[in-house]
Amino acid sequence: MKKYRIGLIGVGGIMNGAHIPEYLWDENCEITAIADISESALERTGNRLNLPPERRFKSHRELLRSGLVDAVDIATPNDAHVPIALEALDSGFPVSVEKPIGINFRESLELERKSQETGLPVFVCFSWRYRALPRYMKYLVDSGEIGKLYHIYFKNIKDSGLWEGRRLEWRFQKERAGSGVLCDLGSHLFDLVRFFGEEFESVFCDMGTIVRRRQKIDSDEWGDVTTDDWSNVICRLKSGINATVTLSRCATNEKDTIELYLIGEKGSLKFIYENGRQKLLKCVGEDKADNTFREVSVPEDFKAGSQSSAYIRLLGGIKDSYTAVISDGIKSQAAVDAAIKSYETGRRVSIDELYRESL
Ligand SMILES: NC(=O)c1ccc[n+]([C@@H]2O[C@H](COP(=O)([O-])OP(=O)(O)OC[C@H]3O[C@@H](n4cnc5c(N)ncnc54)[C@H](O)[C@@H]3O)[C@@H](O)[C@H]2O)c1
Repeated sequence: MKKYRIGLIGVGGIMNGAHIPEYLWDENCEITAIADISESALERTGNRLNLPPERRFKSHRELLRSGLVDAVDIATPNDAHVPIALEALDSGFPVSVEKPIGINFRESLELERKSQETGLPVFVCFSWRYRALPRYMKYLVDSGEIGKLYHIYFKNIKDSGLWEGRRLEWRFQKERAGSGVLCDLGSHLFDLVRFFGEEFESVFCDMGTIVRRRQKIDSDEWGDVTTDDWSNVICRLKSGINATVTLSRCATNEKDTIELYLIGEKGSLKFIYENGRQKLLKCVGEDKADNTFREVSVPEDFKAGSQSSAYIRLLGGIKDSYTAVISDGIKSQAAVDAAIKSYETGRRVSIDELYRESL
């Protein structure tokens, strides 16, 4: 396989915490340039990667023109994803983009059209697809272990909106983020609903904000939080069943808790992630009689999963059943936008309605 030269755009928290370690581990790629509007972010990541000054750019445009990269990875705040990705595709570069794809469905569709027009792939970072336990869950669902699904209950609640002194960062501003936990945490869970084989028909949503004002980043002034701290979404799926998605960043005693509970005709699967520890529980067969859930150990085959390596393989034309691309990102984004519209109008909103409006 060719060794791909990757340019990183937006070298903040997730790029350093998750993407870079995986690229460094993958012998089929090398990080050859970085771009960020923040001098300190450029310096920190440039030093970490031993990149000389001429490979550190203050604008994505300079990176795209540098001749130093074959493909780019975008992990900026949400409002910059689509504008930068469109330019990258127009410049002939495949793109990896963080979730949610954009700040709304309409601009995400624009990216899908550009990907089709240029014939270049857009990879979407739905990171839960690359973890062993959700992968094994998918295998168990696909192989009929719990039978036809009856209920999906997903939850992600954490306390990150309550951290002492947290300022009015981009995540708290609608024009920069699109929405709050709905797109930040919900986009992952909506994708997992589809990962387990379902498709959205319509959604009903309520949401709210608990911490309503925060101090601005670089001043003594305070401003309004315009994104949701919590969202509860009830999804009607095309198969006729329902999925309930509960989200919060103001859950006082929860560092980061995720529960994926799938209930089927023949039994149930329950994935629990709490404070960095995770387990998968199963109740099927004889255990159903007394509702005993047993912890499942995951076979070796399901353990390997690097998101960045999946992107590199996609660049080489290899896409497996886990790889998320633009069409997956669009469907997650559709659920996010339908939920926002449902909250604003107080009624159930169908996914078809969004497509009709975007024609
Ligand atoms: N997949 C996941 O599990 C996961 C987890 C966390 C964050 N994310 C996503 O990753 C993205 C970034 O989140 P984060 O927590 O790393 O944010 P962050 O604020 O820590 O980092 C963003 C970086 O982008 C830079 N930036 C801003 N505008 C830019 C521009 N126009 N050009 C170049 N650089 C620019 C900032 O200076 C900063 O260094 C978001 O879309 C977020 O939703 C995904």
